[in-house]
Amino acid sequence: MSAVLQDKDSYQTRRGLRVRRLTESVGVEIEGVDLSRPLDAEAVQEIKEVWEASGVAVFRGQDLPPVAHRDFSANFGELVGHVLTRFNMSDCPEVTLISNITDEKGEKIGADRAGMLWHSDMSFMRRPSMGSLLYGVECPPEGADTEFAGMFAAYDALSPEDQAHLATLKGVHDYPWHYRTYLTHRKQLTPEEEAKTPPVMHPLVRTHPSTGRQALYVGEGLTRTIADMDEEAGRKMVVELTEFATQPQFVYRHKWQPGDLVFWDNRSTMHRATEFDDRYRRLMRRTTILGDEPFYRPSKA
Ligand SMILES: [Fe+2]
Repeated sequence: MSAVLQDKDSYQTRRGLRVRRLTESVGVEIEGVDLSRPLDAEAVQEIKEVWEASGVAVFRGQDLPPVAHRDFSANFGELVGHVLTRFNMSDCPEVTLISNITDEKGEKIGADRAGMLWHSDMSFMRRPSMGSLLYGVECPPEGADTEFAGMFAAYDALSPEDQAHLATLKGVHDYPWHYRTYLTHRKQLTPEEEAKTPPVMHPLVRTHPSTGRQALYVGEGLTRTIADMDEEAGRKMVVELTEFATQPQFVYRHKWQPGDLVFWDNRSTMHRATEFDDRYRRLMRRTTILGDEPFYRPSKA
């Protein structure tokens, strides 16, 4: 991609996107594009390259009905609804609701308090999500931020010895365990839902298929333990790696406003939601793009 006005923190792409870095490690804000309109292949390619390099792309002030959200997302790959179909929008099933709002029967209209622990979306699938796009419709004026950790930067900060050792290991990602352990406030998974998501193993260091960079791929919310290790010792290692990767210098914290679309790369970042007061309504819409099976390929010396 050729940028015309390049400096360290902001530049403009050939197609006129204005890109501004949000932190040293992860995240950019992109201005100068209306996501509700169809984009040509070159604009899509520019966004993809900026997004893959930075891990998180923030677009503010977007007016994005569910169908437009779906259509923008579909520029980047095949969309998958959540494994739990109960929160997918009936008239646009690729879009999932996240909300604390209740319907007339007192049931939540969306997933509430989802993803409060550090995770990469759907890492418990053999082919986890490549990217997710979350749009703010109603956002509490305080709380309910989303934090993102840059896993390229976290990997780069490891010693060469640790990088080499971790690259030999696999994390065990386990959704039924996650549900039983952390989502005790929710209606539990049915046996059919559990059967769809047996534990899977993925490399602890994954190679980004587009950029070739190495990223840590572990998060305490969905990675239960490390394969071929004692369960507790593996769990301890998962928690320690999560703490390492989420030090302030690797994290961008997004404060939501209605009209924000945040597009993150699940292959090179992890994220978590933060608490908020239920006197506020929160309504978000999310799409998820199917990814490839994670792999590790050693960097060329
Ligand atoms: Fe998530």
